[in-house]
Amino acid sequence: MKKALITGVNGQDGSYLTEFLLNKGYEVHGIVRRTSSFSRERIDPLQGVNAKNPGKLELHYGDMGDEKNLRKLVEKVRPDEVYNLASQSHVGISFEMPEYSTNVNALGTLRLLEAIHDYAPAARFFQASSSELFGEAEESPQTEQTPFKPNSPYAVAKLYAYWMVVNYRQTYDLHACNGILFNHESPRRGENFVTRKITQTVARISEGLEESLFIGNMGAKRDWGYAPDYVRAMWMMLQQDEAEDFVVATGELHSVRELIEKSFTHIGIQLEWNGVATDEKGIDSKTGKVMVQVNPKYYRPIDIDSVLGDASKIREKLGWEPEVKFDRLVDIMMKADLAVARKHGRDAV
Ligand code: GDD
Repeated sequence: MKKALITGVNGQDGSYLTEFLLNKGYEVHGIVRRTSSFSRERIDPLQGVNAKNPGKLELHYGDMGDEKNLRKLVEKVRPDEVYNLASQSHVGISFEMPEYSTNVNALGTLRLLEAIHDYAPAARFFQASSSELFGEAEESPQTEQTPFKPNSPYAVAKLYAYWMVVNYRQTYDLHACNGILFNHESPRRGENFVTRKITQTVARISEGLEESLFIGNMGAKRDWGYAPDYVRAMWMMLQQDEAEDFVVATGELHSVRELIEKSFTHIGIQLEWNGVATDEKGIDSKTGKVMVQVNPKYYRPIDIDSVLGDASKIREKLGWEPEVKFDRLVDIMMKADLAVARKHGRDAV
């Protein structure tokens, strides 16, 4: 039985990857942070030997900030594959917590690489790198050759991790690679990322649980894919004999405004836009009711206007294709959030 060690196992990607690997018969070792509450709703159903799949999941306490503990875990588990998905992953929050973001995202990766170098040098290592490395990119779409110009504490820390992965590959011959992941979403996405915030709020509006959506920069454009497609790419990258870095993206660009419009269409509301900048409002074309308003508190000190990926390399070399693109992604997320909102609506009666 192959052994995989996953940091950030309770996150969106960690939970999808765990399911994927369990279905392939892996023994999955997941690292979870010790907190005072048990917030493990994404992975709890997968624990132990699960009748539905041939693999098994074991959880361990650990923290990217605790070097000794990471070393002990790598020594104990001796994994065949390591997926580093743990991160302070919110770009906006990294401006408020730059040091913490650096400790987890940059030094945490270094600690893990060191532990692997010392205790499991034959393990294959996947690093969840990010399209944020490109910043306001010099070219569009971005490929593996596009220069990096990170413009947030989050991205600078991820850039350090990126180069450490390359460095350990070159210096120690570790099978270590970076997936330069563009935005990827799902019903399991954290509620403070823009896609989930929108689909969740719109679903709640539909059920009468909220009045309107408050949002930041609606002009921002992203290449949004579906998280289960991206964890499949992670695994494919580690099945290669030679470790290489790949862009993982859909190649489609959409704005936050489009995402809002599409989500409202899902509940039968057509929006009309009035006003500019912070005064811009999205209005229900039938009733004239204000459904969307700007709140400058969601603006970032510096933002990236547009991020678009070219995934030709992974398509050509590994045969990876995204199965879900923007339209279907919004449908999937809206359906899931509507089901939750309906349940809340019923419970509230
Ligand atoms: N979160 C959030 N909340 N973003 C908003 C809001 C809001 O209310 N209003 C507008 N936005 C804009 C942000 O300013 C940004 O331009 C865009 O929506 C996307 O924001 P996020 O969903 O927070 O994602 P991100 O692009 O900053 O970063 C995500 O993707 C990266 C690439 O995969 C994160 O998952 C990163 O960890 C990841 O590296």
